[in-house]
Amino acid sequence: MDFDLTKLIRPNIKELNPYSSARDEFEGEASVFLDANENPYSDLYNRYPDPHQRKLKEKIASLKRVNEERIFIGNGSDEVIDLLFRAFCEPAVDEVLIPQPTYGMYSVSAAINNVSVRKVTLNSSFDIDLEATLKAITSKTKLIFLCSPNNPSGNLLSPDKIISLLKKFNGLVLVDEAYIDFTSSESFISKLTEFKNLVVLQTLSKAWGLASLRLGMCFASMEIISVLNKIKPPYNISGTTQAIALERLDHVETKNKQVNEILEQRRLLAKDLSNVKIVEHVYPSDANFILTRVTAAKQVYQKLIVKGIVVRDRSNVLLCNDCLRITVGTPNENKILFDELNKL
Ligand SMILES: Cc1ncc(COP(=O)(O)O)c(C=O)c1O
Repeated sequence: MDFDLTKLIRPNIKELNPYSSARDEFEGEASVFLDANENPYSDLYNRYPDPHQRKLKEKIASLKRVNEERIFIGNGSDEVIDLLFRAFCEPAVDEVLIPQPTYGMYSVSAAINNVSVRKVTLNSSFDIDLEATLKAITSKTKLIFLCSPNNPSGNLLSPDKIISLLKKFNGLVLVDEAYIDFTSSESFISKLTEFKNLVVLQTLSKAWGLASLRLGMCFASMEIISVLNKIKPPYNISGTTQAIALERLDHVETKNKQVNEILEQRRLLAKDLSNVKIVEHVYPSDANFILTRVTAAKQVYQKLIVKGIVVRDRSNVLLCNDCLRITVGTPNENKILFDELNKL
């Protein structure tokens, strides 16, 4: 592999003189802050937050056993996805490769950034079709998006196939591990030193129960992270988000306990679903949701809505005909769903 990050960065980003905030230019201790045009009357929120989220990165670094300089924090993973397009994909010129079906934001973000998408269909087990994926790579392909465990199918992608792509592709391979805490599989973070073209995404929105905070974590080489730092909005992570995340990340055992409960509920829900008359197939899941094929998904979806139960209708998605994606809820929520499905 002939990987050269400098060839991937858009020329305007390479040349960019980044914004330098007041809190960027001052480092050290002070008691009188007259540099950022803040309101001096102190309450919890009158000061700008740390633009580099140093304390938070320190904590994430020790939790994930990774160097702080390999971490970028975004306003949700969705911000990181957008920044990757802005850093590496020249609008109307470059391309990205997105195996389908998968998380919809990759394509939406590509469209917003005017970047064309080559779509490759996953195989019938929703795993990477390696040959078709390699064939779809062109000289303009900058990024390949891999979601593992994959949304909406719920399965892990084959690590060997991901490694093949990392070895054979000269652009960046993004491995989105939003649901990794629901598996016993090892994170690709451990492969960062081996592959310079690897970008791993994780989030506090799923297992950590902090979707409202908006905090996505990106792990990559220091060079890739410094490009993202250069183009991010100066204060992209609010002070409140940083404070709450710092506090919650101290309670790994609470997260683990909830994950274990969700896994047990996933097992029960999958078993229950397979006994419902209108359920034709329950796909195996490595995530906190279950993809299931039912008779007349659209009608089932509407009937559940009338009962105040919202699931995700994926029936228009490639390989997901008549499929609903059901998030694993509390025992009570799962029972309400099960009872209603049984009545249909
Ligand atoms: C695969 C995947 N990646 C990323 C996200 C979004 O994560 P965040 O809340 O950190 O923006 C989702 C949300 O559903 C997802 O399914």
